Amino acid sequence: MNIYVDAKMSDDQRRDELYSGAVFVYSPSPYALKLCLLAQEMIADAFRPFEPLHIHENISAEKCAEILGVLKPKFIHHPKSKEYIQGMLTESGADLEKTYFDVPRMRTAFPGDYLKSGIAYAFHPHRDTWYSAPMCQINWWMPIYELNSENCMALHPHYFGKAIKNGSSQYNYQRWNQESRFNAAKLVKADTRVQPHAEEPIELEPQFRLVCPIAGAYQFSAAQLHSTAPNTSSVIRYSIDFRTVHLDEVLSHGGAFNVDSACTGTTMGDYLRASDLAPLPAEVIASYLEDAHLPSNRVSA
Ligand SMILES: [Fe+2]
Repeated sequence: MNIYVDAKMSDDQRRDELYSGAVFVYSPSPYALKLCLLAQEMIADAFRPFEPLHIHENISAEKCAEILGVLKPKFIHHPKSKEYIQGMLTESGADLEKTYFDVPRMRTAFPGDYLKSGIAYAFHPHRDTWYSAPMCQINWWMPIYELNSENCMALHPHYFGKAIKNGSSQYNYQRWNQESRFNAAKLVKADTRVQPHAEEPIELEPQFRLVCPIAGAYQFSAAQLHSTAPNTSSVIRYSIDFRTVHLDEVLSHGGAFNVDSACTGTTMGDYLRASDLAPLPAEVIASYLEDAHLPSNRVSA
């Protein structure tokens, strides 16, 4: 696989590479820094007087989940969050008329077994395309505080293009939104929500963990297998991720090749046009609604 650092290539070329399994890493840009500083301020306000990286040493997991249950949606819906992502996309050379993004999520990974479910769900190995994301989705990820190799996210690129037996056929994003999502803050000790998992043993090695600086961002295809690495450090990891799609591939149902995603429903309704925050046209969303991935873009595993 290819890893591009601060690559200077056209947006079309970059997306082609991503759909072929490449990863792109970017140094902190001014707007990425603004987004991370906004997140830092909100985290500090929410947990004051405690120091954000060591919350697990000061308050109960239940109390922490309660605070995160307020903090995370507040960050997602903060008007500045969208503005700063628009800035990041401009900085990256994206065509704002054709690029759509969804609101940024704030994620946490706590040391040990402190809090791994619900609002702080530690993601098992998965592809976002098992969760009704389109094959053209590109994931962006960046750390809010200094990252280390023991509290990163992990990518498992040897599974790119290689089918894994999985439970995605049972997943439908529209149903998930109705049934499960809003209970996340209540799931402190165990996560009972039905999510698509691999249904065969997964080789987590080799894996790689990109240790970027604060607001250093990396991009990968939603078809890449990735997971929350167990946090074996002593500090909490806070990160931001968001996703983009480009209208050309949205309309052509293009993107990465689908080797094993069989979910229904679609996340297409979540994306906002970078120029003016308009949603995708209803008929475009409808073309994905029954089946997140066209049969012609699917290989039976
Ligand atoms: Fe994911």
